[in-house]
Amino acid sequence: MPTFRLPDIASAGITDENVYRERRRLLAAFAASPLLAALPGCAEAEPPPPKTAVSAVDANAGFSTREEQTRFEDATTYNNFYEFGTGKGDPSSAAKTLRTSPWTVAVDGECAKPGRIALEDLLRGQASQERIYRLRCVEGWSMVIPWMGVPLGETLKRFEPTSKAKYVAFTTLADPQQMPGIRYRSIDWPYREGLRIDEAMHPLTLLATGMYGKPLPQQNGAPLRLVVPWKYGFKSIKSIVAIRFTEKMPETAWHQLQPSEYGFFSNVNPAVDHPRWSQKTERRIAGSKSKLFAERIPTQPFNGYGDQVASMYAGMDLRKWY
Ligand code: MTE
Repeated sequence: MPTFRLPDIASAGITDENVYRERRRLLAAFAASPLLAALPGCAEAEPPPPKTAVSAVDANAGFSTREEQTRFEDATTYNNFYEFGTGKGDPSSAAKTLRTSPWTVAVDGECAKPGRIALEDLLRGQASQERIYRLRCVEGWSMVIPWMGVPLGETLKRFEPTSKAKYVAFTTLADPQQMPGIRYRSIDWPYREGLRIDEAMHPLTLLATGMYGKPLPQQNGAPLRLVVPWKYGFKSIKSIVAIRFTEKMPETAWHQLQPSEYGFFSNVNPAVDHPRWSQKTERRIAGSKSKLFAERIPTQPFNGYGDQVASMYAGMDLRKWY
């Protein structure tokens, strides 16, 4: 990942938060009305509002947080998606060429029911859930994003992983016709990531299809990406086209590029610095403050999800298994 570059300030056109919330409340009431069914296209015009109420159950499970959320326009214009360029602003303009439908995912390896499956079939029968998660990039910035999606574990179970499935490997599309960044070998494409099977099955691990109540924008990994909130953001692989159950720890794109900088686990850990970035604090890009003036806050072990996930690493030396 290149050195941090100052982002563009794009604050024009921000809706006042109260106006936004009231509009969303009215739209929610309207969305519940049977009238809506008679108005084709209405739902696309303005999607249902993200739920912001955080129940105690959700908060305890780590599924939600009351922390100030990142503005949609920040989360969709300050991105890492190297297939579309290495600048933070590149993906929001260049990823428009990514065709997200039809989309298929190939699932194979150590499972009883492998296959190539259309995205609609992969998600069929699973209700989309909202999760408001912190996203912490290894570069030292963070966001709070309301995602929509399904628990990865529920999806994976359908393929009946065998007892040999110790890890799950994920691959992003690598199509030079649609992805201009692929021409540069900044990474050995395709982008690949992996999780240990218990991490993949953990209820916090989300297969995201949307954010802020809308379908995922291309620059955020449409139509299907991982969100693993206790790990550095690079584990949350975008635009997934293949999933493989493996017995051995799979190679991942960043680890292959620079093993001393990027470990397989990559759990957020303020006690272990990246050779180029301290991990003790983070710039929280949230609310109406410009990205330039983002507040610097302490980074929490496991990105604040320790109660939910630390037990998976009991007995492991997290300095060695960074
Ligand atoms: N997935 C792919 N395929 N390519 C990438 O370059 N960047 C990763 C991750 N997933 C990346 C990717 C990094 S470094 C981060 S921090 C997050 O995506 C950023 O997600 P966002 O742009 O939605 O905030």
